[in-house]
This record gives sequence, C-alpha cells and structure tokens, in this order.
Amino acid sequence: GRQYRVAVLPGEGIGPEVVDAALKILYLLADLEGFEIQGDYGLIGLPAQEKLGSFFPETTAQLCQGSDGIVFGAVSRGGLLELRQHFDFFMNLRPVRSHPHLFHKSPLKPELLQDVDILFVRELASGLYFGPAGRATDGSYGYHTMRYNDSEIRRIAKVALQKAQERRGHLTVAHKENALPQIPWCRLVQEMAQDFPDITVEPVLVDNLAMQLVMHPQDFDVILAGNLFGDILSDLGGAIAGSIGLLGSASFNERGLGLYEPVHGTAPDIAGKGIGNPLGMISSLTMMLQHWGEHAAASRLAQVQNQILEQGYRTADLYTKNPQEKKVSTQDLTSLFCKRL
Ligand code: IPM
Ligand code: MN
Repeated sequence: GRQYRVAVLPGEGIGPEVVDAALKILYLLADLEGFEIQGDYGLIGLPAQEKLGSFFPETTAQLCQGSDGIVFGAVSRGGLLELRQHFDFFMNLRPVRSHPHLFHKSPLKPELLQDVDILFVRELASGLYFGPAGRATDGSYGYHTMRYNDSEIRRIAKVALQKAQERRGHLTVAHKENALPQIPWCRLVQEMAQDFPDITVEPVLVDNLAMQLVMHPQDFDVILAGNLFGDILSDLGGAIAGSIGLLGSASFNERGLGLYEPVHGTAPDIAGKGIGNPLGMISSLTMMLQHWGEHAAASRLAQVQNQILEQGYRTADLYTKNPQEKKVSTQDLTSLFCKRL
C-alpha cells in the first residue's frame, strides 16, 4: 500500500497543540483512505536549543531529509529560517479564501468578501531574510540587505505563472521598483511570461497593493511577492479570511520536498490552554495530501472543515458570542473532525 514518512516538528507555543490535533485527524484519514503514515518526531526551536544546543540540530535535518513531508507547528525565534534555507524551500504557497460563515470576522464589508480566492506565492529562501547582515563593530548600526539573484526571481516567477495558469490566469507582481530599482522583478517576470501567453501579468507597487487588497480583494488571483513583502501581505490575508488561525501554507524545494506550516505563529498569549485553532495546520495538511496525489483524502478533509464551520463550531479566535456559534477547544474540534470523517 501507499506509505508516507512524515517528519513532525511541533516546536513551541501552540505549535505542539495544533500539530497533535492535525496528526490525529491525518492518521484516521489515512486509515479510511487506505494509506499509511509514519510520523517521526524531531526537535526545533527553543526545545531543541535547550536539549541539543541548537535551534535546528543536525539530527532534525536528517530526519527531514529522509521524509515525504515536514509537518511544522511554530517557533518563536530560531530554527525556522535555518530549516527553510537548509532545504532551499524557495516556494511558499499561501492560499486565502473567504468563507461565507466567517464574513463577520473580517473588518471588510461582506460584499467585498464574496468568493475571494487568492493564492500568495511567496519567495521563501532569499531576499531580505538571507542577504548580507551584521552589526558595526562599534555597535552604532546594524544592517540587513535585500539581495536577489535574477535566477532566484525567475524560478519563483515560473511557479507563480504555472499556478496562474491552473487558476484564473491573472498574476499580480508585488514590487517596489520606485525605491529599489536594482532588483528587476517586473522585467524578469514579464520575460518569463512570454512562455505563458494566456496569463495577464500586472505589476503593482507593494504599498499600493496592500491598499488594493483591502479595497477589492475579489480582483486578485495569484500574487507573487518576495520574501518580506509576501510575509507582510499574507498576514493581511488573515484579516480577509477572518483569522490568521485559519491559514495554512506549503513550501517546496526543487526536488518536491514539502514543508507544511500554519501561517500563524506560537501565539504565546494562548499557548498551553488548549484553545488554539488547528484549522491552519489542518489546511496545510490538506495541501500535503494534494501534493502526494491523495486527492480523495484531501477533498474529504476540506469538506469536513467546511461542514464544521457551517455548523457553527468556533475556536476562541473565531467565536463572536453569536447564538448560532458553539465555542470549542482544540480537542473538541479534533473530535468533531474524527466523527465527521
Ligand atoms: C511566517 C513567519 C516567519 C516569517 C517568522 C516566524 C520568521 O512570520 O512564516 O510568516 O517571517 O517567515
Ligand atoms: Mn509571517
């Protein structure tokens, strides 16, 4: 039968809680759909630093290396960027969709939210996060450098163009060439787009794009952005969806290894209380199943997620004391998934 080895890196904060929940559901789903999952646990972040003296230990790298996918919870500082860079996870996919039952959770007017379906394609292995950085020896300044090889822009542009082709044929390119002209996102993407005659490419200055996303989110299909801009814009996606706790993501390198992580972080204010929203992690696993070609399992999981939202079950981040809503813990939501699968 089909067997998958998953490297499980719960990390810190609500990471372990949402990973536990999502994996419980995944194991059951595998049983029902006739494939096998073997989860091998690894340390990352603060727990790794405490036990092994490194935020991203070699043993964890090896565990990930031999896996069919990495399930990652959250870390507060240290570990994640090293993991992304080690495996060259340059391609980060962050879908944002509006859900009619959650329109009231967004500050945007409901008529702006109907059928919003955006895919952020964020470059994840270069740019400002990984450019030359340091502090002056006299301590008077620090610097981080935004640096992109043209080839790094071309490889992520190709992904974004392919995604636009699979979707609605529209690609928005977030850039800031009025201030940062040495990194020619627009030209390079437009050159790549010669091979994709059906795709409309629209470069938009990133500051203006932030405004447009709030004014008319329905008009966007695929949005391509460099590392930092993509990070900032995808949090804005959380305000469109109604909670950042809902958003999942998948990252891939050139050999197709995947890293699956929710868009939210450790949420220290609610960590350990068992109330974190597992839907971001679960949505990330849906992307993992899709990548494996387990389409039946993926759509089953997505369907149950919709059902649960339609039926009014809400973790604390989504609960608004509406009489149709039922406030649930992470575990409650997990049990509901298992029953409905
Ligand atoms: C994200 C996070 C990370 C990032 C942090 C934790 C380094 O905000 O995945 O969006 O900036 O990439
Ligand atoms: Mn972020």
